Amino acid sequence: MNKFIKSTAISLMAVMMSFAAYAEDKPYQVVDGKISANAVEGWKTYNGGGCGACHGKGGIGAVGPNLGNSVTQKLSKKEFVNIVTNGKSGTLMRPNKTNKRVMDNMDNLYAYLVARGDDVLGPGNLIKLPLGK
Ligand code: HEC
Repeated sequence: MNKFIKSTAISLMAVMMSFAAYAEDKPYQVVDGKISANAVEGWKTYNGGGCGACHGKGGIGAVGPNLGNSVTQKLSKKEFVNIVTNGKSGTLMRPNKTNKRVMDNMDNLYAYLVARGDDVLGPGNLIKLPLGK
């Protein structure tokens, strides 16, 4: 019985530790019900950068794929940065390397899209959570 309790305790700890690591790995934070400012900047960049014309409102997908799903299920951050920077030749996805706003906000854009993919934020105007400061 003791052995059972011990092994249960150890597996519980392992689960808790992996949750903690998971939370730390997120590129955005939610503090007191507010999304971090980097994701808000990413949302502005997404709209200002014209991504929505092809990827839909909030990255939900249109001519281009659903970007929330892409960054949470398919692409590494490195792949994301590469595609956004260099585009995908032979497709409608153009390079953004001369777009200063997009390049300067790459991390923010990524944080926003991961928050979308995690369904922490709605597709529209971030009303699902109050804006962070
Ligand atoms: C003119 C249309 C258009 C615009 C504007 C556009 N994209 Fe795309 N994007 C596409 C298409 C189409 C694809 C799919 C390419 C393919 O066939 O693999 C794509 C692919 C991508 C991918 C890879 C997705 C995956 O699952 O492989 C990312 C990431 C991406 N776009 C990000 C962005 C971001 C960020 C912006 C704004 C800065 C943007 N795109 C603007 C059309 C566009």
